[in-house]
Amino acid sequence: MRVEPAAALDGHVAVPGDKSISHRAVLIGAVAEGETHVRGFGRAGDTQATIDAVRALGIDVDDVADDELVVHGSVLRPGIVDCANAGTLMRLLAGLVAGRSGRFELTGDESLSSRPMERIAEPLRRMGAHVDTTDGHAPVVIEGAPLKGIDYDMPVASAQVKSAVLLAGLTAKGATTVVEPAPTRDHTELMLEAAGVRVHRRATSVTVEPASTLRLDEVDVPGDFSSAAPLFAAAALIPGGDLTVHAVGLNPRRARLLDVLERMGARVAIFNRRKAGREPVGDVQVQHDQLVATEISADEVPLLVDELPLIALLATQAHGETVVRGAAELRVKETDRIAAVAEGLRAVGAHVRSREDGWTITGVPTRFRGGRVDARGDHRIAMLGAIAGLASSEGVEIEGAEAVAISFPGFFDLVDSVVKR
Ligand code: S3P
Repeated sequence: MRVEPAAALDGHVAVPGDKSISHRAVLIGAVAEGETHVRGFGRAGDTQATIDAVRALGIDVDDVADDELVVHGSVLRPGIVDCANAGTLMRLLAGLVAGRSGRFELTGDESLSSRPMERIAEPLRRMGAHVDTTDGHAPVVIEGAPLKGIDYDMPVASAQVKSAVLLAGLTAKGATTVVEPAPTRDHTELMLEAAGVRVHRRATSVTVEPASTLRLDEVDVPGDFSSAAPLFAAAALIPGGDLTVHAVGLNPRRARLLDVLERMGARVAIFNRRKAGREPVGDVQVQHDQLVATEISADEVPLLVDELPLIALLATQAHGETVVRGAAELRVKETDRIAAVAEGLRAVGAHVRSREDGWTITGVPTRFRGGRVDARGDHRIAMLGAIAGLASSEGVEIEGAEAVAISFPGFFDLVDSVVKR
């Protein structure tokens, strides 16, 4: 796929439903009482894997529309589940089934099978679960066992690990607490509260009480901030850029990119703030302006973890030197995103050096040349390559562009609808 430079970019768009919340609606809906009606579901490769997973465990899911589902909660039947490329699915499902009866085997594709799974196995074992990984990776085999609540001091700032432990806590004896090294996305906590679970939240920890019955009824999924983010980056990078994304999720533990865009000099305005269930939502306008370098520190990383590749791209056009630190978690995403971003941005003519835990980027406020970016099978790197193409002088060829379908199948059409050439 080749993406030509954009002369301008403007318009009003909406993006598909949030991937993190869509996964959770299906997984929690699967063990909830009665029917859960999900509206604004973000249908994509990863979230389809979650529907297929719960179906493999005996749960009926009706496809009402592309973005609408009904999940019929019931008892999970043991079995083998293919989690495909979806790390969120594998880690949350492991927690969800750990205290339920039967043998569950979770497999994944090559990328998912190279990602660390002891990070969930270890706390689940402390709760009494029988979990085996394959040298620390998938396949992960869980033999359901009675669980007890624990106080878990989480060594990595990971919402997936936190969620796995909290979901296991639903079936445990006694309360389960997770202490976070830094706040991470809290969609699981918010949805469990909505389902009637007793959740106690503090600044850096969260406790769930066991719950024999959950009831969600309805979930309204906001637009995915991480799918809007490449469009925000394009609007900020391209002179004359002016883009509004409507009904996008603005959970403060997800939307830190907007603060970073502002401090880099882009103009950001939020209109029509409202709620979708317990999740904050709004319409976000981003306009281009001269960009300046910034620094990203470890505490900020979990609040924009999936947007860090885009920050590296923005920094290539920002006056001064940008340093991103404390982002070593990027090395264990769908690919090693520290290496993939450095290699991809260098290939288009930008000045990016990898650090062990991030990058140092020397910004030059003129368009880089362009070239070829290898997505390495990673949806976020494919989208990065596309936005780099828009902001280049000669265009970018993306190797493996089809990876966008993991989170955002309509990405290229949506980009085309706002770009002027
Ligand atoms: C996610 C959490 C993050 C994020 C991923 C989705 C979630 O992963 O990168 O895209 O839905 O909980 P980690 O928890 O591993 O940081």
